[in-house]
Amino acid sequence: MSYETLRVETEGAVALVTIDRSEKRNALNSRVRAEIVAALAALRDDDGVRVVVVTGAGEKAFVAGADIGEFAQRTPLEQRDAMTGVRVFDEIAAFPKPTLAMINGFCLGGGCELALACDVRIAADTARLGQPEINLGIIPGGGGTQRLPRVVGTGQAMRLILSGEIVDAAEALRIGLVDVVHPAAELRERTLEFARGVAAKSPVALRMAKAAVRAAAEMPLAAGLAYETELFVTCFASEDKREGVAAFLEKRPAEFRGR
Ligand code: COA
Repeated sequence: MSYETLRVETEGAVALVTIDRSEKRNALNSRVRAEIVAALAALRDDDGVRVVVVTGAGEKAFVAGADIGEFAQRTPLEQRDAMTGVRVFDEIAAFPKPTLAMINGFCLGGGCELALACDVRIAADTARLGQPEINLGIIPGGGGTQRLPRVVGTGQAMRLILSGEIVDAAEALRIGLVDVVHPAAELRERTLEFARGVAAKSPVALRMAKAAVRAAAEMPLAAGLAYETELFVTCFASEDKREGVAAFLEKRPAEFRGR
């Protein structure tokens, strides 16, 4: 499939989705959002793809936010239609395979929300992150007010959302907004190396692990622990579990098939 605003490449079991509007700092317009949703649908159905990495084209930006140009003329109802029609961040959060945000530069507003919807945030040491919507007289509308506090805690989320402050990668790492930081020149290779490592695991177990960890943000502890038990037992029904345990006992590497 070909896209106007995205590049989708696969390297083994890792798919790399690059938002490609570098002249606009990869800002998310309606077209980009629709294409991300279409690309995710294709990658979800492709059994050869086990991990998805999302990044931005060029060296300056991951994603510099929603396309502010689109805000200028919209009425409130048009804006609501745009926001409810294509729920791109929810699609990413609900994507059944692991998703990694490879943050190569400015990661602002909707870009930060996109990264927050991914499972792991891996940043270049040159990346800069924030939720500067307050400077436009608006608030984060792509999940930022809900996902950011779940990731960094209420105080740090308030700090970023109320002030619009943009933080560097070291500060983002300190507050837990990103999970790993690499020198910019090594970002791509080190992220792909991590992605390949994850992609070598059982796709069944990855899916269960992701569902269980995601549930932790939504369920009371007792319900979450019961859910974890059910997902753990579901792994016992897989060929991959038999292969993983047998490979350990036979002192050989496991070959997971996703069954
Ligand atoms: N929406 C629409 N266009 C955007 C954009 C956005 N979120 N972010 C950048 N652009 C456009 C600029 O308007 C400019 O377009 P032009 O060349 O046609 O004038 C182009 O991208 C380059 O941006 P520029 O500001 O010149 O680049 P920079 O490297 O000096 O600064 C940023 C980069 C990201 C710091 C700056 O562009 C910025 O502050 N962007 C807005 C961030 C924001 O508020 N995001 C939240 C949106 S809700």
